Amino acid sequence: MVGMGSSATAEQLTAELTQLGGQRFGIGLVHWVAQDRPDLFDVALAARPALLSVSFGEDWDWVRRAHDAGLTVTTQVATVDAARRAVDAGVDVVVARGAEGGGHGEPTVGTLPLLAEVLDAVDVPVLAAGGISSPRAVAAVLAAGADAAWVGTAFAACAEALTPVPAREALLTAEGDATELTSAYDIAAGYRWPATIPERVLRGSPVNAGQGVGEVRRSVSAAEIVASLSDGAEQLLRRWR
Ligand SMILES: Cc1cc2nc3c(=O)[nH]c(=O)nc-3n(C[C@H](O)[C@H](O)[C@H](O)COP(=O)(O)O)c2cc1C
Repeated sequence: MVGMGSSATAEQLTAELTQLGGQRFGIGLVHWVAQDRPDLFDVALAARPALLSVSFGEDWDWVRRAHDAGLTVTTQVATVDAARRAVDAGVDVVVARGAEGGGHGEPTVGTLPLLAEVLDAVDVPVLAAGGISSPRAVAAVLAAGADAAWVGTAFAACAEALTPVPAREALLTAEGDATELTSAYDIAAGYRWPATIPERVLRGSPVNAGQGVGEVRRSVSAAEIVASLSDGAEQLLRRWR
């Protein structure tokens, strides 16, 4: 996923897309940012991502526009009611994003109870997110019935990440209990996040990180992280055949 956060612009997205070189990719937008910058949404549609994610809003016009462009769409939800509303609005895939997650999100329910409830409530594919940074966590959500894991923090210190060196070092040494929820940096920056959606950061810093940060110990390539999460999960799941 090419993540386009609070300060995203159409120019930034265009610049990141030129670096992809033909791989399958998705784009992750923040709803209020896409509303404020219609050209950002236009660039995202025109790029024809395999998955378009727009999260943290309850106005669903974008779903029709994306479907008209032939795209598959997803959104991150924090409650089972939000999952139902998203599916009613035509969203193809739901990300059940628990309170453990890094960056912005509504910190309501933990990943496992949220995932279990959402899986029971909707008939679309469900991805699990929030605190998933280890093979064990990937195995757990797949065993519970998730179609895939949606992972952020585990990639924040990878070789390709744009994370600055001091933040990268902080991520690589932090324990899982070193995070906190805050809106302070959003207020300071003048971003219009609702008060109900703080961000999870390393305590006392604007470095986004979820509670799985304790598993992030080496700066390796994104491909190595994907391989180690999926191979490790497969080995664990094989124990139950
Ligand atoms: C460094 C970082 C940047 C993120 N940027 C975005 C973003 O641009 N758009 C978005 O929808 N979510 C973003 N997220 C949140 C993720 O989509 C997801 O909810 C979260 O990373 C999952 O929890 P985890 O970090 O514990 O894996 C970001 C998360 C992190 C850690």
